[in-house]
Amino acid sequence: MDSIGTFYGIGVGPGDPELLTVKAINALKKIDVLIAPKTEKKSDSVALSIARPYLKPSVEIIFQTFPMVRDFAAEKKIFEANTDEILKNLRGGKNVGFATLGDPMFYSTYIYIFELLEPRGVKIVTVSGVPAFLAIAAQIGRPLAYGNDILTIIPATAELDAIKNFLDKADATVLMKVYKNFPEVVDALAARNLIDEAILVSRCGLDDEKIITDVAAHKDEPLNYLSTILTRRSHE
Ligand SMILES: C[S@@+](CC[C@H](N)C(=O)[O-])C[C@H]1O[C@@H](n2cnc3c(N)ncnc32)[C@H](O)[C@@H]1O
Repeated sequence: MDSIGTFYGIGVGPGDPELLTVKAINALKKIDVLIAPKTEKKSDSVALSIARPYLKPSVEIIFQTFPMVRDFAAEKKIFEANTDEILKNLRGGKNVGFATLGDPMFYSTYIYIFELLEPRGVKIVTVSGVPAFLAIAAQIGRPLAYGNDILTIIPATAELDAIKNFLDKADATVLMKVYKNFPEVVDALAARNLIDEAILVSRCGLDDEKIITDVAAHKDEPLNYLSTILTRRSHE
């Protein structure tokens, strides 16, 4: 038996407890330590609540706080400290899991930990999960992209000018992380005739899920961190 444990990056899907893959469940059953990422906005502990039913009773849960990454170089020390804590557990022979909402390789804190751990020679297994935008499309019955549509995925935390540039060309569009500048995003969509087709979903698959079809009417309301907009040019 290896004396160094395996590190599992586990996508647990966006919230619906039935949207974990068999592979994610099997990985969750193998781990001795679960890293539960938390941000200042707290929503990442949702990943822990999705994962919890599958954990061995003896699993140790370690909460690690991560900043919202705007400038990785400036935040690197926090990530390095969290990576060291993971390494310590792996070197102690424990299998360590890192639970991620949706998919781990898609706009996730996991990516930074993965990149710091990879050169350290530990065994890493990344388990893909259902990303929120795909679960949302299925949940609301909204096909995301037809035949030759080009799907654009925009994190609304990007510069507003960049968002507008992409929206000018966009056909089928997913806007993620819209909590921060929601009114500006609504205006940018309206100016490009993309607002009538827009649907906003908050906390998809969770008990307090919200689906909003008249997005413009909600422009001035605060949004939950877990909110995504799907829109598209109208199809005949
Ligand atoms: C840091 S990204 C994580 C993306 C995640 N790795 C994925 O695969 O979906 C956080 C953003 O994902 C979207 N998101 C994640 N879970 C969601 C949910 N349950 N309902 C709606 N949007 C969600 C929101 O746009 C949120 O701001």
